Amino acid sequence: MPVIAVIGAQWGDEGKGRVVDLLAQQAGAVARFSGGDNAGHTIVNPFGKFALQLVPSGIFNPRTVCIIGNGVVINPKVLIDEIDKLEERGVDTSHLFVSDRAQLIMPYHLLLDGLEEEARGGKALGTTRKGIGPAFTDKAARLGIRAGGLLDREALRERLRSIIDYKNVILTKVYGVKPLSLDEVYGQYCQYGERLSPYIRETTIMLDEALNKNELVLLEGAQGTLLDPDFGTYPYSTSSSSIAGQGCLGAGIGPTRINAVLGVYKAYCSRVGAGPMPTELKDKTGELIRERGHEYGTVSGRPRRCGWFDAVAARFSSRVNGFTGAAITRLDILDILPSLKICVAYELDGKTIDYFPASVAALERCQPVYEELEGWETSTADVRQFNKLPAKARKYVNRLEELIGCPANLVCVGPERGQAIEKTPIL
Ligand code: GDP
Ligand code: IMO
Ligand code: MG
Repeated sequence: MPVIAVIGAQWGDEGKGRVVDLLAQQAGAVARFSGGDNAGHTIVNPFGKFALQLVPSGIFNPRTVCIIGNGVVINPKVLIDEIDKLEERGVDTSHLFVSDRAQLIMPYHLLLDGLEEEARGGKALGTTRKGIGPAFTDKAARLGIRAGGLLDREALRERLRSIIDYKNVILTKVYGVKPLSLDEVYGQYCQYGERLSPYIRETTIMLDEALNKNELVLLEGAQGTLLDPDFGTYPYSTSSSSIAGQGCLGAGIGPTRINAVLGVYKAYCSRVGAGPMPTELKDKTGELIRERGHEYGTVSGRPRRCGWFDAVAARFSSRVNGFTGAAITRLDILDILPSLKICVAYELDGKTIDYFPASVAALERCQPVYEELEGWETSTADVRQFNKLPAKARKYVNRLEELIGCPANLVCVGPERGQAIEKTPIL
């Protein structure tokens, strides 16, 4: 019953999707357990290039049961479009299932995400405006509507009536915008329900079955540890937990069943949206990494902020997730650099510290203390064995491993499925 949780170890976009796609070739089940369509997981495989937002990255293996777990918030329209696009491109989605407990993103969540961001003015969080924060707020406030709720139309209308009455007060009185029509929202969500009903299931039973058959189960994280609402750069964070512990909560399996926790790290750092990033490079090197790495949001197209590998943050991330191993992606992006820096500590108010402060104000004041390594200045894109990498690239990876504090299981040198080196086994 091996279960591997695949977790973003930085600020998202580390390459979780590509790692899951790779491992899913052997998997009986893959479950997404957090976030929503704020995620964009890019996959390049024999089917083509895809940017998945809600559908688990195991969808390309027809033998893999793919589950959108209870911990995910689902915009039904986005999910339907995603299913249609996959089917159009010859990807079978009949093995996709949606937890009846997953929360739905509603039209007022989308409106409120935008209105709240605008109200924050210069202190905007840079959210994806997909309604994620408002939907998770409603989950906690017990004002949510769940996927299973689409299957009982009468109950749905009653529940929507009281929620929309309340949301309309906020929309009109607080934000001065037009109210939503109950009939329109209800009609639209009934249609979504009709379309999605074949996918909606009690998915914990399906996961349990896969585990009992001794199949490999992957828990696919979204976002990254430094965007986690508890451990990330709060309030510049997302609204659902992105760490390994959430893998259990958001998929519906017990903590005793996880065998390995794989932390996915870029060989450098990137961040999209606002908030502190101690190693951000606002210079030519930062631009070079962004251009060479096409560091623009998968879904939004927003430029990502780029910087050196932050080992202080990396170690913190490993600690709160309990990583048993790391996947280091995008090593190839660094191929052209003559020298590389790794942040090994921070200077904070005249003191050297080796931990990741909770306060964003403190993090903003942290100055990185760097260690410098020589670059290898050779293409790594075609290397398939660790010992065939240039010695300086091996030294860089070995140093990251040492600083993170767990073995590197995978080293990736390109976006394609084959462009991955197994350094040490995951299990
Ligand atoms: P995710 O959100 O963690 O799944 O990551 P994204 O898909 O948002 O961003 C990662 C990007 O890096 C995607 O465009 C991937 O195709 C690409 N990628 C992943 N691993 C590698 C790698 O080793 N090298 C290169 N050059 N690109 C990679
Ligand atoms: P994947 O799964 C990178 C960021 C947003 C913003 C903050 C809050 O592809 O790694 P939200 O819409 O969640 O309320 O926005 O979180 N963010 C991501 N950044 N990758 C992601 O997902 C992200 N999902 C959210 O840019 O700064
Ligand atoms: Mg992404």
